[in-house]
Amino acid sequence: MRIGILTSGGDCPGINATIRGVCKTAINHYGMEVMGIYDGFQGLLTKEVELFTDKSLSGLLSMGGTILGTSREKPFKKGKGIYEGVDKPALIKKNIEELGLDCIVCIGGNGTQKTAAKFTDYGVNIVSIPKTIDNDIWGTDISFGFDSAVSIATEAIDRLHSTASSHKRVMVMEVMGHKAGWIALYSGMAGGGDIILLPEIPFSIDNISQVIKDRTKRGKNYTIVVVAEGINTLLGLRPAEYIAQTIAAETGLETRETVLGYIQRGGAPTPFDRNLSTRLGGHATELIANGIFGHMVAVHGDDIGSVPLKDVAGKLKIVTEDHDLIVQGRRMGVCFG
Ligand code: F6P
Repeated sequence: MRIGILTSGGDCPGINATIRGVCKTAINHYGMEVMGIYDGFQGLLTKEVELFTDKSLSGLLSMGGTILGTSREKPFKKGKGIYEGVDKPALIKKNIEELGLDCIVCIGGNGTQKTAAKFTDYGVNIVSIPKTIDNDIWGTDISFGFDSAVSIATEAIDRLHSTASSHKRVMVMEVMGHKAGWIALYSGMAGGGDIILLPEIPFSIDNISQVIKDRTKRGKNYTIVVVAEGINTLLGLRPAEYIAQTIAAETGLETRETVLGYIQRGGAPTPFDRNLSTRLGGHATELIANGIFGHMVAVHGDDIGSVPLKDVAGKLKIVTEDHDLIVQGRRMGVCFG
């Protein structure tokens, strides 16, 4: 068999480890040929590909980013520029046939899973692997990249404690996560945040301000607020800016904001993410070898299984208020809004 592999959407730690997991298993265990496709679905439009050897897969386990490059090309959206009027799905299907590819492995987030489901309906053999720091892909307990992002955000919060305490300030830190609050919840709790705001839980500025004033009364001279980028804000400000300005106005306390940004997506994956990537990659290749297409590999408890792409596409896995970290956090006095 000859398989193609591509990475699509935002990058995250662990993509290269996943490419390595797929390709080494395919070449060494199943005797398959593997073709790397550059820049996501864009590379299937242009046929920008390269045949991988075992040698081209060296040094990938700990490497950040993606050696294949990525793009947010959506082949089922109307073509623009040189693709104006072009039937992109038909062109891609033709290119896949010309390249002799029996299956495409798509490593990506929610958008990619949607595209992969559409290509399955279009008659292309696809196996996908969930990738995102946001951890918001439906059908899998966890996606690789999340643990690395949480680890980076937690270290940043740890560092805010000492400077917040020295200056007696309220520190507001904004983390990524798109429309889901997973990174804010996990890093906020691991970093000992006092107030954690998630898109899934409505917040009240009055309540937050009261919590901070009460802390001051109890002799707590600083407060750490962790804010997900997806919370609803007014005034067209970034969430951290809005929350920091409002808290300062309501409490009169000195307040500073930090937006962590793309640091959460860069650099080496954690050991947890490396091993998860290796397992997901290996299982994806096993699916292909068994002729099971149209599925996304997925983590269920301690096991790796798979779910049909049609069940995943268009859904979002968000935080629910009965999550144990929220239940235990509330009991300990953490404010969630
Ligand atoms: O999906 C990963 C993510 O980093 C989100 O957390 C964030 O909202 C988004 O991508 C940023 O996208 P871009 O790379 O297009 O700026």
